[in-house]
Amino acid sequence: MRKVITYGTFDLIHHGHINILRRAKECGDYLIVGLSTDHFNAQKGKKAYYTYAERKLILESIKYVDEVIPERHWNQKIEDISIYQVDCFVMGSDWEGKFDELKPFCQVIYLPRTEGISTTKIKADLLSQK
Ligand code: CTP
Repeated sequence: MRKVITYGTFDLIHHGHINILRRAKECGDYLIVGLSTDHFNAQKGKKAYYTYAERKLILESIKYVDEVIPERHWNQKIEDISIYQVDCFVMGSDWEGKFDELKPFCQVIYLPRTEGISTTKIKADLLSQK
């Protein structure tokens, strides 16, 4: 059983999210998503449209996702890798190089982002339609 982990806010799920979840799952057999809590988002200056519980419910309904755990702070990744016996850490290429310190603990893969879509863009586009 090869375990993969990825992290994010995953608000207003879009095809970029689905693409990274699909490709992350292809890196192994079991995909864990560390989902940013509302409190952690607030610390990052982010406000999700959906609550943590709603985003978790949606993520758990996606066939590539096996388990959703809370991401409460920046520094939990090494602990998560150990607790969940993670083999592979995956993030989008917007994070290229940012998590190389995890390399002694598991494989680290940065996957290319899907062009032209983000939660921020969806929010901006909907606002500009008004
Ligand atoms: N992601 C991706 N392609 C996109 C958008 C996101 O591969 N077009 C990936 C990110 O690289 C990250 C994961 O999806 O690994 C979760 O990203 P998240 O920040 O939740 O999504 P964004 O749409 O980028 O949200 P925001 O605009 O709020 O930053």
